[in-house]
Amino acid sequence: MSAIPANFMTLLFVLLSCTAGAFAAETKAQVLTVGPLVQVQGTSNKTLLSLLPALPGNSKVPASTQTNVVKNPQLELPHRGCFYPEDAAFFDVRLLRKFSATKELDPSLCTYIVLPTGSVQNMTLGLTTPNDTDLFQALAKYKDQFPSLKLILSVGGRNRTHELSEMAETQAGIVKFAASVAAKLRGWGLDGLDVYWNWEASAFRSDEILLPVLLKAIRKEFDRDSLENGKDRLVLSTTLQETSQTNTIDGPVLGTAVDLVHAVSYDQGNTAFATLNIAHHSPLFGGPLGGSSQVNLASVLQAWFLAGIPKSKLVGGVPLYGRGWILENSNETFFGAPSADQDLPSDYTHLSGYWPYYELCQRIKLDNATVVNDKRIAASYAFTPTWWVGYNNEETLRGKANWISANGFGGVFVNDVSLDDFSGICGTKYPLLHAIKDEQSKMGTTSLPANRLVVP
Ligand SMILES: *[C@@H]1O[C@H](CO)[C@@H](O)[C@H](O)[C@H]1NC(C)=O
Ligand SMILES: *[C@@H]1O[C@H](CO)[C@@H](O)[C@H](O)[C@H]1NC(C)=O
Ligand SMILES: *[C@@H]1O[C@H](CO)[C@@H](O)[C@H](O)[C@H]1NC(C)=O
Ligand SMILES: *[C@@H]1O[C@H](CO)[C@@H](O)[C@H](O)[C@H]1NC(C)=O
Ligand SMILES: *[C@@H]1O[C@H](CO)[C@@H](O)[C@H](O)[C@H]1NC(C)=O
Ligand SMILES: *[C@@H]1O[C@H](CO)[C@@H](O)[C@H](O)[C@H]1NC(C)=O
Repeated sequence: MSAIPANFMTLLFVLLSCTAGAFAAETKAQVLTVGPLVQVQGTSNKTLLSLLPALPGNSKVPASTQTNVVKNPQLELPHRGCFYPEDAAFFDVRLLRKFSATKELDPSLCTYIVLPTGSVQNMTLGLTTPNDTDLFQALAKYKDQFPSLKLILSVGGRNRTHELSEMAETQAGIVKFAASVAAKLRGWGLDGLDVYWNWEASAFRSDEILLPVLLKAIRKEFDRDSLENGKDRLVLSTTLQETSQTNTIDGPVLGTAVDLVHAVSYDQGNTAFATLNIAHHSPLFGGPLGGSSQVNLASVLQAWFLAGIPKSKLVGGVPLYGRGWILENSNETFFGAPSADQDLPSDYTHLSGYWPYYELCQRIKLDNATVVNDKRIAASYAFTPTWWVGYNNEETLRGKANWISANGFGGVFVNDVSLDDFSGICGTKYPLLHAIKDEQSKMGTTSLPANRLVVP
């Protein structure tokens, strides 16, 4: 059995048989080496990636401007990325507790906002709902007051990664998509694109090949766009879970193409799915079951760094929600203890076991829950004789923001901004984002050199 998936063979064929223009000769030479290589069991995907010819350059840039320097976007450091809530169709009940860009958002707490409403339509960048442009306009007004605030449209994610992988399967798809992005974003008044590639939701299995190729193609177009119109280059980011792909993806290519890599580190250890043993879904150290493991934010960031992503581009993801269980025995609240079921649905999301911080903070008070800031995992959980929820509070988010800055990484992103206590039900407004921002500003001048990494 070949180690190379059939669709990748197709991609290679499409790319290598493209004989347009000046790189025909180069392409021909590469075909000769690809033949025997694809027969070899265990040929690394990185090797294969290095065989891909450069994507066609853009002929639209006049030769006279090609030597101009691209104006890179100014991203404020440390990063505080605010992921915006998914569309109301998913969290329909949240309409009872509407989160609006103009009323509830506090843009002083975010250095950039990621809007999860992009889609791939006919191989070009599109929107999931036409109404999204109203949201973009509302958010763009904040840039008068916060000129460095960036608005980034995200495409892919849990529900739409299949669109990305279907588009990226052929060179024609990549070229068409990449060519569409800059003009669309400029038209909507946005500042960048996030490619959220969810490995599990991908249609194919050669994602770690396709993703860097796609990102490189988009970045080329962003450079061209900036040269052409003299504006700051659009921001390019990607959002990724840490999986075995981290070991095979071409990190240096990916890390060069993008400005930001959002390292997802929540819903860890399958806590979002069938797990019925008590586990924490977003530990900083240790693992979901408390003990030693690689399934934690510190290890995820380290893995991407070792894969070749510059530290300043690596942004650690923290959830502003908890995941919980109904206890099987009221006296058994330890990691790995059996549960009777996922926790009750929260009032506002109606999702079992999923608790926004703004609801959890009330529930903890009402039920007289015991709160533990567990040093082994540097994360918090709360329990009563009936339920157990793993989450992050002000203290443990400070710890995460501190560790990220102390180890030279770029910053923190939150998923998502509407789950903080934005209306101050339990005290001051936005306690979690304020804690992160405050900790980052304290750390500002004390960062360790970028090559030093502290993992206990
Ligand atoms: C996304 O996928 C999840 C899981 O399959 C599903 O429950 C949810 O309804 C989907 N959301 C949207 C907006 O389609
Ligand atoms: C998709 O794009 C092609 C050109 O690239 C065009 O011919 C076709 O009509 C488009 N289809 C839709 C449904 O927009
Ligand atoms: C979408 O736009 C329509 C028409 O402008 C408007 O009636 C509707 O309220 C909008 N929906 C949302 C969720 O903003
Ligand atoms: C290359 O990637 C494919 C798809 O993820 C995987 O099945 C295959 O094992 C990888 N090959 C190597 C040698 O890593
Ligand atoms: C908890 O209570 C159950 C039922 O009384 C008992 O079987 C179990 O051993 C107890 N567990 C612990 C950790 O004390
Ligand atoms: C929580 O504690 C308060 C004060 O000690 C008490 O009045 C209340 O009934 C307790 N609530 C629950 C759910 O145990």
